[in-house]
Amino acid sequence: MGLALGESGTRSLAMFDFRPAPDCPKPEAYRQLRDAAEALTADEPDGVANMANIAALLWDFLPDLNWAGFYRMVEGELVLGPFMGRPACIRIPLGKGVCGVCAQDAATQLVEDVHSFPGHIACDSVTNSELVVPVVRDGAVIAVIDLDSPLKARFDAEDQAGIEALAAMLAQRI
Ligand code: SME
Repeated sequence: MGLALGESGTRSLAMFDFRPAPDCPKPEAYRQLRDAAEALTADEPDGVANMANIAALLWDFLPDLNWAGFYRMVEGELVLGPFMGRPACIRIPLGKGVCGVCAQDAATQLVEDVHSFPGHIACDSVTNSELVVPVVRDGAVIAVIDLDSPLKARFDAEDQAGIEALAAMLAQRI
């Protein structure tokens, strides 16, 4: 998979449809997602551009989300990065909310019901479940990938494994 060059020489992504088939098993769908993310970021050194495209890819690829995107580690706190969804809180201290706990502990947070997560930060009242995965480079958390859903228990162990594998690949691309 590569990026097509149009007649003007500009890159065109319109020819790509990254969505998996509706009956595709989740592990295979996540493999396709990772392949698409790999292709989208392969030739681009700009981390913001890559995070923006990955946020759009996640949004396109995964059903039942109301928010998908990144928070970046900047001078010891999380700062909002590229995302899809409604405007969100901009800065999250380490240890606060689902994202802050994920970043502090360098550990994925799979939350079936955000209303029972102590300190959950409600950026959008429709969110009911959340998956937050750290992006770790050279032993340090450099960002988190945050997925929110209006469904309770939207995410399971297969989603966690799929997003963790994506995060591992992205560690060198953002
Ligand atoms: N709910 C998150 C905050 C980020 S928003 O969901 C986009 C949290 O508790 O960390």
